[in-house]
Amino acid sequence: LVNGELKQWTGQTTPVFSTISSTEKYTPTLLGSIPFMAEKEAAEVVEAANAAYDKGQGLWPTMKVADRIKCMENFVRQMKETREEVVKLLMWEIGKNLGDSQKEFDRTVEYIYDTIASYKELNGRSSHFEKVQGVNAMIRRGPLGVVLCLGPYNYPLNETFSLLIPALIMGNTVIFKPAKHGVLCISPLLEAFRSSFPKGVINIVYGRGREVASPIMKSGKIDVLALIGNSKSAIALQDQHPNKNRLRLILGLEAKNPAIILPDADLDLAIQECITGTLSFNGQRCTALKVLYVHESIIEEFNKRFSEKVDALQFGNPWEKGVSLTPLPETDKPDYIQGLIDDATSKGAKILNEKGGKHTDNFIFPAVLYPVNSKMRVYHEEQFGPVVPVISFKDIQEPLEDMAESNYGQQVSLFGKDIKTLAPLIDALVNLVCRVNLNSSCQRGPDAFPFTGRKDSAVGTLSIPDALRSFSIRTFVASKDIAYNNE
Ligand code: G3H
Repeated sequence: LVNGELKQWTGQTTPVFSTISSTEKYTPTLLGSIPFMAEKEAAEVVEAANAAYDKGQGLWPTMKVADRIKCMENFVRQMKETREEVVKLLMWEIGKNLGDSQKEFDRTVEYIYDTIASYKELNGRSSHFEKVQGVNAMIRRGPLGVVLCLGPYNYPLNETFSLLIPALIMGNTVIFKPAKHGVLCISPLLEAFRSSFPKGVINIVYGRGREVASPIMKSGKIDVLALIGNSKSAIALQDQHPNKNRLRLILGLEAKNPAIILPDADLDLAIQECITGTLSFNGQRCTALKVLYVHESIIEEFNKRFSEKVDALQFGNPWEKGVSLTPLPETDKPDYIQGLIDDATSKGAKILNEKGGKHTDNFIFPAVLYPVNSKMRVYHEEQFGPVVPVISFKDIQEPLEDMAESNYGQQVSLFGKDIKTLAPLIDALVNLVCRVNLNSSCQRGPDAFPFTGRKDSAVGTLSIPDALRSFSIRTFVASKDIAYNNE
């Protein structure tokens, strides 16, 4: 979708295969074909988004708030009609189970409505003159320019839209490239995008990062890089911009969220939360628990019961009832996970669960590894998949020191009961990460909460109200005599 038209790119047409199979043995199913953009076509897209923005003077960035809202409402109305098709594609293309696929769709629709409400509120507060220190002042929020938006494969809709929707509603124009896995999930929405927004405001391109995103960045005509993915891609893309000082960043990157389980924790609850925390969507969530610290006094019992629960998880195709583990969309992921397991076991860790590491085609059964230490790759790397490292600790300073040394700082889960022990720990933890979850696993929602991270985990803050601020700049009009209401 470029400049309001659905185009046939001249790059290579690439077949998209499903990661799942309705047979025992994995046989790839052709889902569709995607025409990729050729490198030379990047200039056309950059031109379209820049012309629509027109240095801040275009129809979209100068449009009245109420009219921009109408466009967004029109889009979400049409989007709702695609639910069945998008949910089916989420299951087939990225292997997300039925319940989670439906949740992803519904949460996205809700996200858009909530963004509209929050935008109205933000605007209501900034559209009239107020007397500030003797001056009539109208604080306004203006767009930043042209945004290159790159979404992740694990939430092709929901998380991608948590960048795209606030960027659009604040008056920016956007070039959006869906992730390689999940690209088809966007296809049913192309017409809704095309017919809801003025031409050039939202442009959607398909292709490989280096062929598509690199020339777009090298053009120097991108004002904001909004990306959810890994730091390596984020750094590579920033480096390609000829004037990095002018580039704003909104990045959701890697995390290695720990759970800390104290001796007085409710073990049933902690185990259940650690199961969902580590393994929902096979661990392919940036908010997943990626290392478990368990107090030495309860380690034996925890390990036994946790491993049994992992082995009881059901593997199958996403639409089957009761299934929680599904095939992995990245076909090289099982080998990567196997590599982490081999490395850890060669350095002294054991696989605690019977089924751990059992491997078929594009699926690997989650392995619980214990004892894990800092010499192992799984201690440092963000596994983003089905492997669970467990570490026992004697003194609470041990996990705290590890977290302080870590390159990441998104969230932590803390399990315990005694508030006298918890309170000072929470004070320490909030300076290491951006969200402390008491007796529950880590997660992004509710979408009104700030979603961000320290160190290499994020740049900028998402969530609905924060994202509206992140994708805009605060400006103001000062007047000695004239004052009016700009609703
Ligand atoms: O992959 C990272 C997502 O932000 C996770 O979102 O916690 O809602 O699953 P979630």
